[in-house]
Amino acid sequence: MGNTGNVVIIGASHAAAEAISTLRRAGWPGQITLIGDELELPYQRPPLSKAYFKGELEFAKLLLKNEAFYDKAQVNVLLGKRATKLDRQQQSVMLDNGESVFYSHLILATGTRARHLPVAGHDLPQIKVLRTRADVDDIKSALPQGGKLLIVGAGYIGLEVAASAIKNNIDVTVLEAQERVLSRVTGEHVSGFFQKRHAKEGVDIRLGASLQSFVNQGAKAYAKLGTGEDIPFDCAIVGIGVVPNVELAQDAGLACDNGILVDEYARTNDANIFAVGDCANHFSALYRNRIRLESVPNAVAQAKTAALFICGKPQPYNQLPWFWSDQYDIKLQTAGLLSGYDRSEIQGDPDEAKFTVSYYKQDKLIALDAINAPAEFMKAKKAIIEALSAN
Ligand code: APR
Repeated sequence: MGNTGNVVIIGASHAAAEAISTLRRAGWPGQITLIGDELELPYQRPPLSKAYFKGELEFAKLLLKNEAFYDKAQVNVLLGKRATKLDRQQQSVMLDNGESVFYSHLILATGTRARHLPVAGHDLPQIKVLRTRADVDDIKSALPQGGKLLIVGAGYIGLEVAASAIKNNIDVTVLEAQERVLSRVTGEHVSGFFQKRHAKEGVDIRLGASLQSFVNQGAKAYAKLGTGEDIPFDCAIVGIGVVPNVELAQDAGLACDNGILVDEYARTNDANIFAVGDCANHFSALYRNRIRLESVPNAVAQAKTAALFICGKPQPYNQLPWFWSDQYDIKLQTAGLLSGYDRSEIQGDPDEAKFTVSYYKQDKLIALDAINAPAEFMKAKKAIIEALSAN
């Protein structure tokens, strides 16, 4: 090893773990370097708002691969270090400790960060985001037994945490700016279903909420609403969406537009640099559009695509996007992207907590939400691919 190159991966998450195992399985003979700003080896993030939040799963169980895997794969693991700059001429990555690392191939798997909430008091110490293991540990230590949790945003993060926290006897209020929950990711039937269930479990969901500011008064912090109401809390989580971490790429002159632009092999406009997962914006042959996905399956599949290309075994990426969310005993699985649908059709009974909603655009099936209906979800994936592939 040594003179055959160095694949450097920036970002130690799902994509990184997959890239490493694919590189070695596909016979990459050179070095591999993993750079991550968190202290942990790559771990599963979806349980952070669910089982790990509830305390049902210890952190060691979240690791995607154990330490022995990285040893065996001879990965140079650099944790707790941030990449601060790329030098494309020198093919090197600068780190925050002053070191620099040479790459023959670079995989950017920098993910996303929480969108900032621009209101007065956003920087009070009780106000947190939930992206990492350290964030969850911090949130939990800020929440006393029977404490009050305020969640801003009724998206995936907000509602999954609400379900976890209420089960742990935390008092939960959710502020959502829109008139329904999960509005970015689903249609009205599914939003209504989740809204009802959260209300039944005791979560106080405020729709159309206008959050004006946060203030500290005495021992408590308060959210001030446009209606004049003040809501007290011990800890608040802001889950109002994410933005892709593109700065490294952008500063190095790589093409970016809502993510780092890549082709079907996860290549950026620099032949030695790839981008995968939530930070990448790829052309979807199925949707005939550029898309940036926030999804673990996409991150894993794109990482594999990049790794195979590097090993000289190119296979174009062309997967149907899919997503899932677990709240209480409900599993929501979404196949495809519903944006732009003009008709939806519900099948099954929401009162039985088992149903599907199909989304059509000009009579073509483009997406399906399955509530506790995994077989229908699997069938729909195939049907959507067929519908999208037909002319
Ligand atoms: N006040 C209240 N709600 C707001 C505000 C605001 N100022 N701004 C946005 N929202 C609401 C949106 O209307 C939306 O319902 O916040 C919600 C954000 O939901 P998502 O876009 O699903 O974002 P989030 O829940 O933060 O999840 C981000 O993290 O776990 C990953 O992949 C997952 O894509 C997901 C990402």
